[in-house]
Amino acid sequence: MAGKVFFSVTMSLDGFMAPDAVPVADVFSPEGQNDPRVRQWMAKWSQLQAWLFPQRFFRENSKLGEGGEEGLDNDVARATYERTGVSIMGKRMFDAGELAWPEDAPFHTPVFVVTHTERDPWERPGGTTFHFVNDGISSALDRAREVAGDRDIRIAGGAETIQQYLDGGLVDEFSITLAPVLFGTGIRLFERVDPARLALEQTRTDASSRVTHLRYTVKQR
Ligand SMILES: NC(=O)c1ccc[n+]([C@@H]2O[C@H](COP(=O)([O-])OP(=O)(O)OC[C@H]3O[C@@H](n4cnc5c(N)ncnc54)[C@H](OP(=O)(O)O)[C@@H]3O)[C@@H](O)[C@H]2O)c1
Repeated sequence: MAGKVFFSVTMSLDGFMAPDAVPVADVFSPEGQNDPRVRQWMAKWSQLQAWLFPQRFFRENSKLGEGGEEGLDNDVARATYERTGVSIMGKRMFDAGELAWPEDAPFHTPVFVVTHTERDPWERPGGTTFHFVNDGISSALDRAREVAGDRDIRIAGGAETIQQYLDGGLVDEFSITLAPVLFGTGIRLFERVDPARLALEQTRTDASSRVTHLRYTVKQR
């Protein structure tokens, strides 16, 4: 039986989980690197995720090379991966990942992409298969429960997708890695969430020299 439904994201101290969107193709094209908006996107994204890139687990799982930091941040990254039996993500997160992830995508489980785009399943080496779900978040969750085994279901992102699951009362718990950066503008994690519907209980806090990891359980009001 599938376990909990959770999300785990990195957030800027002022509440953003991504910079203002720029076309993903520009982020990954040589020409795009000359665009000041792309450069600003990359600078902010790099600051946000600066805690994660040097971690040994992240480097190995993303095929960035062996070695890296070990300690609390590495343990958090590894534990999040190990508890996840299946992921659900939005199309914009997928679009960026399709260009950025190695061929051996870093999930090694089924992944359900909620989208209006119809597409056949995309199987990657190493156990990741992306399934494209066109009939909404509940359907994606039902399909995820069928394949999660006894592990948890991760709502991987982005913000629009997480907000729908939160508003639907479908998230059991979440963790935020709070990064010491200010974005000013961007994509807010809790932009559309109805604060009257959700009550949170803080269950854990851990701080490293780089970031603070916060964990909450979600209760319906
Ligand atoms: N900070 C972190 O830890 C973290 C983690 C993950 C992602 N991110 C970032 O978050 C950003 C993306 O977030 P986002 O909020 O812009 O977008 P998103 O949630 O990734 O994707 C939104 C898109 O998914 C599709 N979609 C969502 N709900 C749907 C539904 N119910 N039915 C059908 N289609 C649906 C729609 O695309 P279509 O209409 O085109 O199908 C929609 O435009 C990226 O920059 C990513 O890097 C950050």
